[in-house]
Amino acid sequence: MEVIIQPDANAAALLAARLIAHEIRANPHIVLGLATGSTMESVYRLLVKMHREDKLDFSLCRSFNLDEYVGIPPEDSHSYRYYMNERLFKHVNIDERNTHLPNGMSHDLVGECARYENTIKRCGGIGLQLLGVGSDGHIGFNEPLSALRSQTRVKALAPATLEQNAPYFGGDKANVPRRAITMGVGTILASHRCLALATGAHKAEIIAKTVEGPITSMITATALQLHPHCTFVVDEAAAAELKGTEYYRWIFANEPEWAEYR
Ligand code: F6R
Repeated sequence: MEVIIQPDANAAALLAARLIAHEIRANPHIVLGLATGSTMESVYRLLVKMHREDKLDFSLCRSFNLDEYVGIPPEDSHSYRYYMNERLFKHVNIDERNTHLPNGMSHDLVGECARYENTIKRCGGIGLQLLGVGSDGHIGFNEPLSALRSQTRVKALAPATLEQNAPYFGGDKANVPRRAITMGVGTILASHRCLALATGAHKAEIIAKTVEGPITSMITATALQLHPHCTFVVDEAAAAELKGTEYYRWIFANEPEWAEYR
């Protein structure tokens, strides 16, 4: 795992977007694993800008989102399909038929989860998985006690997540759907590369536990310590409780692979 600390949230999002762009240019057929949430909004804005101004080409990319609410139709503005269409897909040249989200409206949710997992495998697996970290340490909607080898399935959202996502539902956590389909921790760990982004002082405690704490299913983001190629990009505020920052900064300043991002 590498931790890259940037001065502020804008710089962190820009570095993440540049890294994604680099991977797309290196492999135009890349399978992207995508996340939603507030942290990703600026990353998608930057990718749209790179598409418009620097001809970043999504035409051969395929994408799989981490999760989708159960019971919210795709045309509903609260759905993650709607979020992705509005913030990224509509504004770049990705073929919509190559963009995948779980179908939270399926009458056979168990079958839908198996179908989603198999479609990812049939596409050769996720090349680059983008991740945010929830206030309870979830990745995707893998809430506390999710098996660290879990696959795509339905999860009940934890109280902290209902609280975190309430602003999207008129500020009332009672309006947040109780369940979602999510890729499993095992699905995420099977991706070729992971890129996690976290910004803001409210993420400082969970980022310290995620990066430097023991691996535990109580904080599923800690499973990323097992991933062979995982990069965390954080801003100073989210890095505030990390103990090893001197070493992380030294790696970023000296390792040749980061030269073009410094
Ligand atoms: C959303 C997702 C979640 C979020 C996480 C952070 O698709 O997978 O794990 O990435 O809850 O959300 P924000 O960015 O809103 O803090």
